[in-house]
Formats: sequence, structure tokens, C-alpha cells
Amino acid sequence: MKNARIIGVGHYVPERVVTNHDLEKMMDTSDEWIRERTGIVTRHWVREGETITDLAYNATNMALERAGLKPEDIDFIIVASIAGDAQFPGNGCFLQARMEIPGVPAMDIRNACSGFVYALAVADKFIKTETYRNILVVGAEIQSTGLDLSTRGRDMAVLFGDGAGAAVVTATDEPDRGILTTHLHADGRYATKLWSEFPSVINHPYITHEIVDSDRIYPKMEGRYVFKHAVSKFPEAIMEALEATGYTVEDLDLVIPHQANQRITEAVAQKLGISMDKIVSNIHKYGNTTAASIPIAMSEAWEEGRIKDGDLICLAAFGAGFTWGSVLLRW
Ligand code: ACO
Repeated sequence: MKNARIIGVGHYVPERVVTNHDLEKMMDTSDEWIRERTGIVTRHWVREGETITDLAYNATNMALERAGLKPEDIDFIIVASIAGDAQFPGNGCFLQARMEIPGVPAMDIRNACSGFVYALAVADKFIKTETYRNILVVGAEIQSTGLDLSTRGRDMAVLFGDGAGAAVVTATDEPDRGILTTHLHADGRYATKLWSEFPSVINHPYITHEIVDSDRIYPKMEGRYVFKHAVSKFPEAIMEALEATGYTVEDLDLVIPHQANQRITEAVAQKLGISMDKIVSNIHKYGNTTAASIPIAMSEAWEEGRIKDGDLICLAAFGAGFTWGSVLLRW
């Protein structure tokens, strides 16, 4: 059976940097509050005219170049995002058009912060079944344009950033190489603990001036509730991957968690007894970029030489849905 191996990673964030001090001018918040509660110092937000497709395309080009492949070598595209350049079709089709590879299948995954882990698991299965050979997996997100930038929305607004990360996943015959195991979970009982309700087709019509003028158009989160679940589900997902393969926490060379919040990452490290130098964290620079955060972190870690051939690496995510999961791979 084939194994699915990542052979190129890339990332892109918009040029515009938004500091905590910039946010202080928009809402009642403080650099101190944001740093203390989240670890975030800056995030990158798009300028008018920039699209998710732009971010995804730039990240893709970097990943393809590092993989030594051309767009026409890709035979399947999976894009994970919760936002869309359009209500439909999905971002995958827009990216495919930009890559000028008509006919190549493209699909979208809307599993929020767990989107990239879900997408990688799907890619793994298509490669293992020898359906496709080179799959492009992208996490791309624009959050900034959908946030309530007044004091009313400050709990959410300070957390999120825009960006994209991409991975080229290819088939290999090497045993014990590439993706070793994937584990996915969801619990829809908590769907409304972190969600964006509108536009919704259960409303008649699905969007009204009243909704737009109210705060119901913005994403909502019960922060403490999310925090509590995240700090238990991240370690569970990592342990599940280790148990499935017979490895232990000590065997891990690197953990690349979804960048939700520095306090969540530290709590997970403590729970598992992993030192922070084995955990990739870049939330101070980018904030929470939802589906893009793992591939951005993976691409940066690779650039910094923190990922070496043969390393055992665990990717783990938790997010809206609730959804969570892990991917254990041998680089
Ligand atoms: N600036 C200043 N004050 C704020 C802000 C802000 N941006 N946001 C909230 N506050 C205030 C609140 O109004 C509240 O004031 P009050 O005491 O007068 O009522 C006070 O700060 C404390 O609010 P809490 O919500 O209780 O603050 P908490 O310590 O729980 O921190 C946070 C909030 C950072 C959102 C935390 O709950 C958290 O990290 N939750 C996890 C959520 C998360 O990471 N979500 C990301 C998306 S999901 C994911 O990626 C996994």
C-alpha cells in the first residue's frame, strides 16, 4: 500500500500588520489584556481587494516550488476554510482556476480550526487507495472582514488573523514514512458554543437589514467553554495517534498544534509533559488563523530547520463544531 508523504510546504500572510495597539484605537481593549490572555502581539489582516484565493495561491506556489512540482502535476485539490470568497462555489474551485488546471477535482472542507487536519486525513485516504498521486492540501482563511471591530465584539476580534498554508502530499512506497495515522472527531452538541449563525437559509429571507444591523451577523463564542474543551481534546487526540502506532510522547520530535491561544498550547504541553521547545508556536505573530494555522506553522518550522528528515511529528487541532483530530507523520 502507498503512504502519503508531505514533500513541500508553503505559507503566505497578507502584508498589513495589525498590532494590539492598533486594536486599542478601535475598541476598549489593551495590549496587556490580549498578550496575557492569548499570547498574541500582532496579526496580519487583508487589505481591500485581497481574496482567500490570493492567499491560497501564494502559499501553493511556495509549496509547489519546494516540492519541485508544477501545477499540472497536481491531481486533486482540497481547501480547508470557514470563510469563502463567495457563498458558493467553494474556494477550491477558485484556486484551481487560478492554477490553470481545469478538470482537476477540487473540494472544500468547512471544519473550522480542524479543517487542515481533516483535509490531510482525506488526502491520506485518497493516496492510500491509489486514487490520486499528488494532492494539494491548503488551509486558507480571511477572518478579519467578518469580525465586530467594536467593543461589543472584542472577545473574538482580538484573536483572529488572515493567512494561508499549503502542503503537497505525494504517494510513496517507503514503509513507516509520511502519514502514519489520522484520527478525526466531532461533537455537534456544541455547535452553537462557537459559531457564525448568519446568513442562514432557515431565516426568511436568509439575510435582512435587521440582521445586518444587529450583532447577530458576527461570529459568537463562549470563550471559557471552548477553552475547557480544547485543553482536554488536544491531548486526547495526540495520545490517540500515539497509542494507535505504539509510540510514546518521548518519541515525538515536534508537535504542531492549531494556534488557538498560547495559554491553550501551554496547558496541552503541561498535560502531556512535553517541553515547549518541542511545540511549534507562532501565535504571537499571526493570531489564530483557523484552518491556516497548522500549515503556516509547519511551513515556518520547516524554513527554520526545525523539521528534519525522519522526524516524528504530530499535528493536532480543535475548533468549532466542536471538531478535533490529529495526524501523526514521519517526515
Ligand atoms: N479586551 C479587554 N477585555 C476583554 C476582551 C478584550 N479583547 N475580551 C473580553 N474582555 C473582558 C470581558 O468582557 C470580561 O469582562 P468582565 O469581567 O467585566 O465581564 C473579562 O475580560 C474576562 O472575560 P472572559 O471571557 O472571562 O476572559 P477569559 O479569561 O476567559 O479570556 C478568552 C477570554 C481569551 C477568549 C478565553 O476564554 C479563551 O482563550 N478561550 C478559548 C477560545 C479560543 O481560543 N478561541 C479560538 C477559536 S477556537 C479554537 O481555535 C480552538
